[in-house]
Order: sequence, then C-alpha cells, then structure tokens
Amino acid sequence: MTKTVSRRAMLMGAGAAAAWAVSPARALMAQTRGAALPAPVEALLAQMTVEEKAGQLTLMAAAWAGGAATALNPAGAASSFDEQLAQVRAGRLGGVFNGNGAVMAKRMQTVAMRDARVKIPLIFAADVIHGLRTVFPVPLAEAASFDPDLARRTARAAGMEAAASGIDWTFAPMVDVARDARWGRGVEGAGEDVLLGRMMAEARVRGFQGTRGLAAPDAVAACAKHFAAYGAGEAGLDYNSVDVSERTLREVYFPPFQAAFAAGAPTAMASFNEIAGIPATANSWLLTDVLRREWGFDGLVVSDYTGDEELIAHGFAADAREATRLAFMAGVDMSMQSAFYITHLPDLVAKGEVPMARLDEAVRRVLALKAQLGLFDDPFRRIDPRREKTRVRMPATLALAQEAGARSVVMLKNDGVLPLPTGGRKIALIGPFAGGRHDLIGPWNVYGTDAEAIDLEAGVRAAVGDAASISVTAGSGVDDALPGGIDAAVAAARAADVVVLAIGESQRMSGEAQSRADVVVPPAQMALTEAVAATGKPVVVLLRTGRALALTGPVLGASAILVTWFLGSRDGAAIADVLFGRVSPSARLPVSFPHATGQEPYHYDHKSTGRPNPPGPLAEYKAHYREYANEALFPFGHGLTYGAIEYSALELGSARMGAEAPLGVAATIRNTGTRAATEVVQLYVHDVAASITRPVRELKAFERVTLAPGEAKVVRFTLRRDDLLFVGQRMQRVVEPGAFRLWIAPSAQAEGVSGTFTLA
Ligand code: NOJ
Repeated sequence: MTKTVSRRAMLMGAGAAAAWAVSPARALMAQTRGAALPAPVEALLAQMTVEEKAGQLTLMAAAWAGGAATALNPAGAASSFDEQLAQVRAGRLGGVFNGNGAVMAKRMQTVAMRDARVKIPLIFAADVIHGLRTVFPVPLAEAASFDPDLARRTARAAGMEAAASGIDWTFAPMVDVARDARWGRGVEGAGEDVLLGRMMAEARVRGFQGTRGLAAPDAVAACAKHFAAYGAGEAGLDYNSVDVSERTLREVYFPPFQAAFAAGAPTAMASFNEIAGIPATANSWLLTDVLRREWGFDGLVVSDYTGDEELIAHGFAADAREATRLAFMAGVDMSMQSAFYITHLPDLVAKGEVPMARLDEAVRRVLALKAQLGLFDDPFRRIDPRREKTRVRMPATLALAQEAGARSVVMLKNDGVLPLPTGGRKIALIGPFAGGRHDLIGPWNVYGTDAEAIDLEAGVRAAVGDAASISVTAGSGVDDALPGGIDAAVAAARAADVVVLAIGESQRMSGEAQSRADVVVPPAQMALTEAVAATGKPVVVLLRTGRALALTGPVLGASAILVTWFLGSRDGAAIADVLFGRVSPSARLPVSFPHATGQEPYHYDHKSTGRPNPPGPLAEYKAHYREYANEALFPFGHGLTYGAIEYSALELGSARMGAEAPLGVAATIRNTGTRAATEVVQLYVHDVAASITRPVRELKAFERVTLAPGEAKVVRFTLRRDDLLFVGQRMQRVVEPGAFRLWIAPSAQAEGVSGTFTLA
C-alpha cells in the first residue's frame, strides 16, 4: 500500500471542506452581516469630522466608579465617569467595555444620543466568557463535554443575560488552540485539538448571537479572539513571542477562527503576541492579506487592551504616533484602551500618512456593527433596568449550569469506589477546596461571584441528606501548609470510611498572565495527599484546575480521580451529581495531561520524528526522555464512565476510498458494565506517507453514545476526502492518494479498533 510518485502531483482539494473553504464562509457572512450601511447611517458618516471618526474607533474601559472594569484593570481606568461622559459628549468615544449594567449604560447612551453633535449610539462590550451572573463551567471544562450543542446552549443563556444587562458585544469566544499547559489562558478555550476547537468556536458564536439576527434584543455580537496564535507563546509564557510556521498557523491556529467567522462572528480581536518578529497588532499579512483578502472577512477588528501601545514595548514602533499608524494601516480598526487612535489619527490623516479612505473604511465597520445590532433603530434596545433584574439567574439557566457542570467532569481513574452511596458511609471532605465559597466560578468572569455559587460541601450535603456523616477539613492552604492542618486531616480521614480530597489550583493560578513553570499540584497539597493516603482509607481525588496537570505519587495512587475544573454557579451540586452517580461521567480530556512539565508543549497530534521510540521500554538512540514515556499520562480524549465499554468489529465500507465517494466506517460499542453510560466514540486518522509529514493521529469525528447496561450500538462515521486535506508544500489545501490508518477509539492513545484504507 505504498503511495506512488503520482501522489506528489498533490491533487488540489476540489470543492474544499467547509472548514477550509473561503466561499461558504463568505456566503454565511453575507447572510449575517451585509457590507453596505443603511442610507441614514451613511449620511451620518458624511457629517463627521476626522476627530469624530477617530472617536468611533476608540473603545475604553468603563469608568463607572467601583465598577467591573475599574476593579479588573485599575491602571487602565484613568478617567472619572464624568470625564468619560464628557468624551461621549465630544464625540471622542465609540463605546466602553466591562461596564456596569443598564443604569450605567442608560446614562451614557442618553448623553451620546442627546448631547453629542452627531448622534451615534455607543456600543457596550464586555468579557462574557463563560456566563454573566449565571456562571457556566470555564470553557476548557465545557470543551471536555465533547458536546458542542451544550456549548451553544450555555453561550445562548450567557448571551441572553448579557443582552438583558445592557451589553451588545462579548469579547468571546476565545478560540486559541492551546498546546502548552504552562500557558494560563488555555482555560478560556477548547484545548489542544483543531477539530474540537472548530466545533466549539462555531457553537459558541451561534449561541451568543442566537438565530434571530444580531438586532434581536437578546443577541450579542461575538468576537473571535485572539488573532492569532496567542496560545503558542514560547515556554508557555503569557504574551510571549510566537515563532510558528505559516503551515502550522494555517493548519492549527487559523481553523477555529475560520469556523467562528463562518458561523457569523462579525468581529475579531488582534492578539498581543508577535509572530516571527511582527506583532499581530501590526501584522498586515495576518490582518489584511489573510483575514480580509483571502477569507473575505468584512467585519471589525479590535485591538486587545492597549495592544497598539504595546508595539512600543515590543520594539516595533518608536513612539505612540508610529504605533497608531502601524496598527491602523495593518488592519486594526478599533483601538482598545490606549486612546492612541483618538490622540493620533486626526494628525496622521491631516499629514497624509493615513488615507481618509482607510479611516472611512474602519468607521464604516464600526457603524455597520452598531447598525446590525439594531442600535440605530433603538439605542436602548438592550438597556432596560427591569429586564436586567428579571432575566438573570433564572432557575432554568442555573439548572443548565448544573447540567453543563456535571457533563464537564472527567473521570481519569476509578477502582470501583465511585459512585459513592448516598447513605451509610462516613465521608471526610478534605483539602483547600473541600468547603467554602471560593474558587468555584474560575478565572475570567467579570460579573459572577463565588458568593452566589454552590460549593462542594453544600453540594455533597444536599446529595447525602444525612449531615452527620460528613466532615470538612481544609488540611492545607493552596500554596502553603496550615498549622496543624495535616494532623487534623489525618484524624478526619481515620474517622471516615472514604476521603474526598479536593486539591489542585486556585482560580488565580490560570487565566490571563497566569503562566506556571511547573504544572503540578502545589507541594503543600502533595504533603497533605501523602499523609491522607497513608491512612489507607480509599481516597477520591477531586482536581480543581484550569489546565492540564502533571499528576504524580499519591494523587495518581488514589482510588479515583475526577477532574472538576471550575464549574461555575452550581459547582458543588454538579460534582455531587457525578460523585454519587446521579450522572455518569461522560466528559473527555480536551488537553493531554503530561507525566511532567518538561513534556510541554504536548499535543497528541504530534509528528513521528525519524526515530520514534517503539512502544514499550525506552530504546537507545530513539526520541525519548530519560525519565518518562513520550506519551501523555492521560491523553486527549481520555475519560471513563460508570459503565464498562468495549470496542469491537471495525467495519470499513471499502478498503479503497474513491476520489468522490465517502468512506463509511463503523464499530460496535458495548456497555458490559452494570450502569448506564455515555461514551464519546472518537475517530482518528493517520496519513502514512505524505509530501508534508502528518501527525501520528488526528481526530476527524466523534459522537456521544448513551448505552444501557449490556447494550451495544453500531456507531457509524462517514469519512470524506475533504477530511484528509492538509496544507501542502505551496500552502495550498491538498489531499494525496495513498495509505491511511484509522482508529475508532476511546482516546487519542487507545487502540480501540483500527484498520487501514487507501485513498484512490
Ligand atoms: C485583555 C484580554 O487579553 C482580552 O481577552 C480581553 O477581552 C481584554 N483584556 C478586555 O478585558
């Protein structure tokens, strides 16, 4: 089954797959946006001064005293609210972000529509990343559900709460592929895989924006961020330089953005990082050649927070004026927070260094977004203090948070101790996350609070009913030992039948600017774990984390491990659902857990090298570390259920896949256990020899399948030629004839059932 030389002819991917294609994306964008401005809005543009135009391109953190934005970014919110209102009056501001609800928005919008010379509504933006007042699981956790429709539903609910609170535009979804666990912002995205990243990106955009058009009062505009390759910073350090090949950009980092735009996201945010020496914020290849010319994106590009100003620190611009020109001419239409555009664009235009046509183009994009959001028809359509009170934290939305939470819990191991019975056992809840309303909602939530969430102790007590059988002992702080903590924990463990040990990361250990050089459970908690394990009591580890962790020693030795992330408003209740078996765990790792930090960046879809280490022990002069196997400790896609699942009977529609005919593949999945289970069945492919080396495996499809005890189902997938496309030697999508391996398996490292086929 060797491929012939003709393969090198590199057949072009005719009728390309949706993920890659420009035209379907364009068609969709045209449906959701439409380039031309309504005539009255175009007339407004004609009346505007250059300064008023630069004002429309200026977005600032809301200066409402004590508000969300000032709390988040104290250094950035320099002006007082009155001063900000004066800016609005003078036409020097296009919108604000992370403001404070309908009352604030009403005051600002009233000034914009009543006092400014040219009446243009403000746009209100916010970081609604995983919920507003109802907080859903952090996006990485939700990606573990392998359930894009769940992500669509939670984004819809978040969009509805946001729109009811005066917000028009969310800085979400974050669609950065994240392959380095050290990077703290992986928590905001969908993990290491391109297909899952694309599907989650699309689902979240559709959820935020709803189905009734952006003008619907319950829709918010989505923003795909951070364009691009923000997750590829060297050494996992946030904001750090990126140096990836164009092929990797096109094959790994771009597709989730393309999926977001194809789903109708009308805005994108430029990333902080440089790529091969050119900061994304001033990268005209990225922002204009690729985004606009190649993909046909006609929406708005906003900088990240002071991204243009940072061109100076990058060493790319000499001063503020040059930074403004470089960012603006590269394709950043709107400047966030530096005030560089309002300060420098008028003079740059006056001196002919920035053409008026470019200024008008950018302003048109801002006005078009405002028009699509219905703001010219009714600037107050999302501003209603009554709606804001009644449409948040509704019972159905909170129930969705609990459902999403339970579906995000990944069971890494279980020797049979789980699920726990709800009665007749003394349970010791131990660890820094055993009780108390802290570290529940996770990073990057502007409007939710831990104080309104259900903690673990409350969730467990509600599930067991019998309060006397529960004890709660912290045992340790997150980073530091507690005086007498270990002794108290050991005593509690000895007095109990089973220990539920809630350890891991606080919510301040992931998120923006939270890189970790060592992705481990902090040493103080390892000491606690060791002491508790030494009691000999069965230990169920609940792992609170915003990233993949390298698990070792007593943590790995526990009877069961559940990855519980940060699940949001119903955190403790959702964990209890899984712990006591009301819900069988069904989530899968969206990021591989390594043996050690030194393996990072790690992703299951790596290349083989010329000297792959054969399975088994380490071989001389092969690619391996001295200390660990190359594979992940727990790979992408891994997760257990309360059933026992068997894979058998691979069916291949044919051993040959024709150029046009898709290939049907199937396997029998059987639940041989005694409990119902939902299995995430995954289809992986490997292109054996190609003109560009291909990953050892790539996920091509997956399906969640629910099986009663003893039940078997045949799970069918259709593999198309377009699924086999890759970025060829000349940066074109190609697919080449030859041999392929495929697996239908429960994880990226499991064998499942496998076979081969040939592409004609
Ligand atoms: C900086 C972050 O990188 C970005 O994701 C966020 O949307 C902005 N700050 C605004 O808060």
